[in-house]
Amino acid sequence: MGQIMARKNILITGASSGLGKGMAILFAKQGCNLALCARRMERLEELKQELEGINPDIQVFIRSLDVNDHDEVFKVFDAFKADMGQLDRVIVNAGMGKGASIGTGYFKANKQTAETNFIAAIAQAEAAMQIFRDQNSGHLVTISSISAVRGFRRALTVYAATKAALTCLTEGIRIDVMGTPIKVSCIHPGFIRSEINEKVKKVPFIVDTETGCKAMVKAINKEKANAFVPGWPWAILHWILRIVPASSLKGMS
Ligand SMILES: NC(=O)c1ccc[n+]([C@@H]2O[C@H](COP(=O)([O-])OP(=O)(O)OC[C@H]3O[C@@H](n4cnc5c(N)ncnc54)[C@H](OP(=O)(O)O)[C@@H]3O)[C@@H](O)[C@H]2O)c1
Repeated sequence: MGQIMARKNILITGASSGLGKGMAILFAKQGCNLALCARRMERLEELKQELEGINPDIQVFIRSLDVNDHDEVFKVFDAFKADMGQLDRVIVNAGMGKGASIGTGYFKANKQTAETNFIAAIAQAEAAMQIFRDQNSGHLVTISSISAVRGFRRALTVYAATKAALTCLTEGIRIDVMGTPIKVSCIHPGFIRSEINEKVKKVPFIVDTETGCKAMVKAINKEKANAFVPGWPWAILHWILRIVPASSLKGMS
């Protein structure tokens, strides 16, 4: 409980749908002020109203942001900091999953996924960590994926590679600030229903958005280095996934 109250002002990127929106709702219920950004401003306006209805005691700030516009990432994060006075936690959540097998003519979609999930995450981490280093406090959270632990085929080929890179980036940042008041966590969700997978019918162990977001928020509040959520089955399955032969990963994408 103490830790939840300590992280009062929370910035979430990609908050207009899915997990970003789901986490915002749960943090609002916990009494946190929220700084929310994404490209679809009308979605954020609706969400702001919903959150203020859920908890009239909190403050909700919204701004439009395309995370691939790196100059804007710095401007928007700084503006949120000015709004709130201090940023206690930044959740690097914006992401996408477009793409196809390498060598099948979808370089553009694969590149867009790589830029959004990884290069833009570096910009968001840089902007957040500059603020945290200046404050000498803060909690950086990145939203990776269970797919970070292995290579996967087809649409997941580049996606999984970006998430492996994000997990590694997060660890590097954590080692950099080890022993300081700044904390760095990487969350690896399993499959959770959202717009990213709305067209995919058969997904192993998929849970609804609320169940998934509850597990994510619980893990974020624990502030551990790495978390695999929901704990069942992913806390165990990620170890198995790391060692199964590549041929058995064919059925997973
Ligand atoms: N759902 C799962 O099963 C699952 C599993 C593991 C990891 N994840 C990760 O969780 C994160 C959230 O995904 P989701 O499942 O909630 O998918 P989603 O419903 O499609 O939400 C993606 C969010 O990212 C934002 N976004 C995408 N491109 C952006 C850009 N260029 N600039 C700013 N915002 C951008 C979108 O907002 P706008 O379109 O309004 O900009 C949206 O709010 C992603 O990083 C994803 O890889 C999801």
